[in-house]
Amino acid sequence: MKIFDELKIGELNLKNRVLMAPMTRNRADSQGVLIQDAIEYYTQRAEAGLILTEATAISEEGYAYINTPGIFTETQMEIWKKVTSAVHEKGGKIFVQLWHPGRISHSSLIGGKTPIAPSVTSDQLKTVTAEGFVDTTPAKAATIEDLKKVIKDFGIASENAIKCGFDGVQIHGANGYLIDQFLKRNTNKRTDQYGGESLENRSRFLFEVLKEVVEAIGVERVAIRFTPYNCFNGVFDHDPKPLYLYIMGKLNSYNLAFVEINESKMGIEQHDPEMKSLFKTQELREVYKGVLAVNSGYDLEKGTKALEENLCDLVSYGMPYIANPDLVTRFKNNYPLNTPNMDTLYSSGIKGYTDYPFYK
Ligand code: PHB
Repeated sequence: MKIFDELKIGELNLKNRVLMAPMTRNRADSQGVLIQDAIEYYTQRAEAGLILTEATAISEEGYAYINTPGIFTETQMEIWKKVTSAVHEKGGKIFVQLWHPGRISHSSLIGGKTPIAPSVTSDQLKTVTAEGFVDTTPAKAATIEDLKKVIKDFGIASENAIKCGFDGVQIHGANGYLIDQFLKRNTNKRTDQYGGESLENRSRFLFEVLKEVVEAIGVERVAIRFTPYNCFNGVFDHDPKPLYLYIMGKLNSYNLAFVEINESKMGIEQHDPEMKSLFKTQELREVYKGVLAVNSGYDLEKGTKALEENLCDLVSYGMPYIANPDLVTRFKNNYPLNTPNMDTLYSSGIKGYTDYPFYK
């Protein structure tokens, strides 16, 4: 089966087509330093063709939620170095997902500062702080200087990733966080060169971040993730298809490691009763000539079919990886899968983190 075939991406040899999707686990301290058990958590999953880490803050302003990791201090980097070397020792490959969450944040998470967004909105949004589930701090419209800093921080974080031994980075361009807030119309009301109806303008910030990261670490070590269809975190665009066709077309001139399309349609019913957003990833596949990964709701059968029908080159698995560290072995042998416990998804400690059993 193709899903167990190798794939060479630049210098990177993936031993199969199974990716572990990026997943927030809230197992860091208040300084963005992962708990030591993260070494075991990621190493247990090293038989994936490639692991994508949880979303990781590029700077002090890059936190959305409590107890999530960063990659901008020495102490944060120390534990990441241990993670990458343990994963490599087990024959695995690992990219760090880098993010700035923009308006999905709270001043208590970002050193008392005000979150930034493309524009001011009155949307009611939630995040998780030391006080629990709370309203986000209303974001201010980012100045050009603010954007320059974020772009620079993406570059520095990418260099840090390589210093930590990561095989590459994935830029988080999805799920209603800062880059996605620029892409989608309801969160981007800017009238300058970063906003408006122009597809070039709305994707300008994305491509500026990409340029910085590519210059920092080389294009073949850079991946990116998008959510063209969902309205998660209150982002909404009544007609995203032209934008994503434009972006994917433009990405052809980069030789990226891969583009991951998360096909989730979360929240779409509230925002898009006419379902205009429902174009198919196949349309992106036809435009984009590079390596394509798909994600969201795939099991072995659906993933195998997508690969065999040449709809993608890689399949990324999220929830199945929470509960099945040996997911590839289970797939290969048709072993049953463990069920994830949702109560421990975002909790602390090793329960529901490193204690899911391997198949015996
Ligand atoms: C989350 O923690 O809820 C989360 C983080 C990153 C995502 C999506 C969801 O891309």
